[in-house]
Amino acid sequence: MKVLVATEKPFAKAAVDGIRGIVEGAGHTLALLEKYTKVEDLYAAVSDANALIVRSDKVTREVINSAKNLKIVVRAGAGFDNLDLPACTERGIVAMNTPGQNSNAVAELAIGMMIYASRNCFTPGTGVELKGKTLGIHAFGNVGRLVAKLGQGFGMNIVAFDPFVSAEAIRNAGATPVNSIEELYEKSNYLSLHIPATNETKKSVGYELMKRMPKGAVLINTARKEVINEEELVKILEERVDIKYITDIAADIQATLNEKFGVRVFASPKKMGAETAEANINAGLAAANQIIKFFATGDKTFQLNK
Ligand code: 3PG
Repeated sequence: MKVLVATEKPFAKAAVDGIRGIVEGAGHTLALLEKYTKVEDLYAAVSDANALIVRSDKVTREVINSAKNLKIVVRAGAGFDNLDLPACTERGIVAMNTPGQNSNAVAELAIGMMIYASRNCFTPGTGVELKGKTLGIHAFGNVGRLVAKLGQGFGMNIVAFDPFVSAEAIRNAGATPVNSIEELYEKSNYLSLHIPATNETKKSVGYELMKRMPKGAVLINTARKEVINEEELVKILEERVDIKYITDIAADIQATLNEKFGVRVFASPKKMGAETAEANINAGLAAANQIIKFFATGDKTFQLNK
């Protein structure tokens, strides 16, 4: 079988070497398409592939249509909003992700962004400490739980909201569950977003929630830009000059945000949450192992399009 790794943002070399070892060790062949700039290159590369490993690369219906022999696609990472699941299902292609494999890297970045914001975005002047502040976790999945744990290490009070996680599970992780999303924003000096981009969550964080945040609050986004209502973000940042917005995924209107709000906003030049050697190795090797197990035994653990 031919396994294609198509990564516009490449894995670390150690991860590629590891993927190669797993794929070739199982008797399959590996093809690499890295740093591609034209979607046509992806269409061509995938045309004879039986398996596909991607990161945030968009696996659209057009990509699926070009991949006549494709049996499985694995998103090496957590969020799978880049996969056209209905198109995969129509073709009988199994789609998977590798949940939890890059979570620690994202969680560490979220904490780093909190420190950056609390120290005046590394500009001169007196900042504040994280200790004793309340950290709100919006969605208590793999990353949210790790951010909570790291926040506890800094002496922060952790509150969390997730309609899909029981209050007991949140308490067991050392955080305090709140009853509503509004209460979460009211209590949080730092609010860390960990919701996926779905039809329900897109543009769901905006003026009405952010206006509830305490004085000097910071919104940290290591999730997806799509969950932010950008027009409303501008409105609240204009109205509340004490609020900061720090994101790992630049807004569509990031240039405007930078111009209008200066150091009160920051965006990574390119999403870097999962950009560690460890996260690349964990997610990349997990993807390769899931593929060879699928070909060997039909195992569909982590299938998304059931
Ligand atoms: C994820 O959903 O796993 C993260 O956002 C990482 O995405 P990336 O592989 O594009 O860095």
